Amino acid sequence: EKGGYDYFMLKEIFEQPKSIRDALRGRLIAANGHVNLGGIHKYLDNLVNAKRIVIVACGTSWHAGLVAEYIIEEFARIPVEVEYASEFRYRNPIIEEGDIIIAISQSGETADTLAAIELAKGRGAIIFGVCNVVGSSIARATHEGAYIHAGPEIGVASTKAFTGQVTVLALLGLMLAKERKTLSENQLKDLLRQLERIPQKVEQALKLNAQIEKIAKDFVDARNFLYLGRGYNFPVALEGALKLKEISYIHAEGYPAAEMKHGPIALIDEEMPVVVIATRDNSYDKILSNIEEVKARRGKVIAVVTEGDAAIPKKVDYVIEVPSTHDAFMPLVSVIPLQLLSYHVALMRGCNVDQPRNLAKSVTVE
Ligand code: F6R
Repeated sequence: EKGGYDYFMLKEIFEQPKSIRDALRGRLIAANGHVNLGGIHKYLDNLVNAKRIVIVACGTSWHAGLVAEYIIEEFARIPVEVEYASEFRYRNPIIEEGDIIIAISQSGETADTLAAIELAKGRGAIIFGVCNVVGSSIARATHEGAYIHAGPEIGVASTKAFTGQVTVLALLGLMLAKERKTLSENQLKDLLRQLERIPQKVEQALKLNAQIEKIAKDFVDARNFLYLGRGYNFPVALEGALKLKEISYIHAEGYPAAEMKHGPIALIDEEMPVVVIATRDNSYDKILSNIEEVKARRGKVIAVVTEGDAAIPKKVDYVIEVPSTHDAFMPLVSVIPLQLLSYHVALMRGCNVDQPRNLAKSVTVE
């Protein structure tokens, strides 16, 4: 059942080239600019003409929602808000007839997300679902949606569901951009081509496993971790920190790198490992100076960089090279080493990576 792997989590991490391919299957043909989600048709016009979109989700699915916010705003130019489902439902949100909600949930059974959907539905909103489990409560409660087709995710820590969600939401963003003509034909084709190549890049990133296992050895006894990223890699920082805390029980915080100087920098000393997701994008120079700020305070920096990067390796303690892709799709690649890092650290600490304490796969209580 674990397909030769010791744990479901590792199996599911390694399934990602296939699960992302499954999420893409039949939904895009880059060469002729085709992008389509078959499950969204009756309400497609409502979505395309949305004045704003509200995304509701919890945990890792909420992180996927943050990536989607950046993608939809950049390419389709529709304002997006991302809300924790639990906060949304208890704060009398402004939702009116015809408003657009996207609910993201792996299990499709998360009580808070389901309740947020019911609230919005009660006010006449149109709800789109991005779920993994077919026929789940959330899939049934939504008007339309797109499955991520990741297959069963057994490990409690979500891995392939995250990349499946980001993949489907990227398709959604590009589909909206196409309909709204907010991208040129060439821009669209180029993005689709890059998205199409993501499974190979993830495959390449998985080859980092042995290297990351080695790095993990040096951090088995760490008590805290900081994860920093900017732009599209900011949600990845949050996700990396969540993965580490839930399965290794090491306290970890994710931050937008520029926020560090507004507080967390006080924590940095030689005992503090800082994972910086610093792939080459338009905030590269800025993140380089964030790395220098950490090093000036003798923090231990583990940098995730784009392969061939010449500047960062000279400044940091550990370098993890990932293949390059468009900034918008980098989370699909840069999250892989972070999943592996948390897996190895947790395993070396003797933790049950598939069933961490106090956590359940579906959180069906409020
Ligand atoms: C993280 C994790 C949780 C879930 C959250 C939402 O690894 O497993 O944070 O992401 O409980 O669950 P779904 O996506 O099933 O609604």
